[in-house]
Amino acid sequence: MSKNLKGRSLLCLKDFTKEELEEFIFQGEKLKVDYYAGKKEKLLEGKTVAVLFEKPSTRTRISFAVAIHELGAFPLILETSNLQLVRGETVPDTARVMGRMVQGIVARVFAQKTLEELAEYSKVPVINALSDFSHPCQALGDFLTIKEKKGKLEGIKLAYLGDGNNVANSLLIGGSILGVNVSVASPKGFEPAKEVVDIALNFSKKSGAKVEITNDPTFAVKDADVVYTDVWASMGQEAEHEKRVQIMKPYQINESILTHAKDDVIVMHCLPAHRGEEITDEVIDGPHSVVFDQAENRLHIQKAILSLLI
Ligand code: CP
Ligand code: NVA
Repeated sequence: MSKNLKGRSLLCLKDFTKEELEEFIFQGEKLKVDYYAGKKEKLLEGKTVAVLFEKPSTRTRISFAVAIHELGAFPLILETSNLQLVRGETVPDTARVMGRMVQGIVARVFAQKTLEELAEYSKVPVINALSDFSHPCQALGDFLTIKEKKGKLEGIKLAYLGDGNNVANSLLIGGSILGVNVSVASPKGFEPAKEVVDIALNFSKKSGAKVEITNDPTFAVKDADVVYTDVWASMGQEAEHEKRVQIMKPYQINESILTHAKDDVIVMHCLPAHRGEEITDEVIDGPHSVVFDQAENRLHIQKAILSLLI
């Protein structure tokens, strides 16, 4: 186990090397085998890990709570709506208090800066459970799923269709480090931020990964091994939902667009899905879909992340 990872925070995948990201994935694979063998290693025995939510969550909430419990620690689930944060206590003061009582903090927040403050002032490892900028635990679980289904990561073509959002950002950054070719097709004005594309292009020089940003969904999907999508309006963007649905319609994953991918393409979605918008019922319930294996892998990868960092 790498000594390099102990005590560190996971705020963005860009802070990790290829070998370190691979270590999270290997550990996730190992803990998944143990899980099915009925072995639950108490790697965090006696510790307490806080799991803090500024936004709703199903998969992340359940997978972290179960992972922490099965690792032998106590999952302290907190909603910001019930903390003094809503009455004006600062994030640094909240973090200072938490850092004296818990051994790790998992947090789902709006601003990436909140995660940075939690890490700076708590002095315990902080794990990003989604921000408006990124969703690194999701992407790590997704790379575990791709490796499981395709036998490798390097040279795999992942086409992401739709909004250039937090999930797309983490797939781009993680893929460019790990050697996965990521092709993102978004409508004009909804492409991933230039800052993210530049980070991915920079990593791709070392890994050899291809990074493509296009407005053409058919071009992105051509010969893809993996076709991935996410909701068109993320949490906090509900007011733009109708407008986005109109703009993003050509980026829907349906049976017709999938004919351009490889015959053995797998279809992924981080969930929750808006069925009939970014993905059709036929595809999400069809033979290429791996979305529920993908959701389950959140449990195994959260255990890997927690046990390597805390
Ligand atoms: N994919 C994911 O993070 O789902 P939740 O929002 O339900 O946690
Ligand atoms: N992009 C979505 C992901 C949800 C897991 C959101 O931020 O709402």
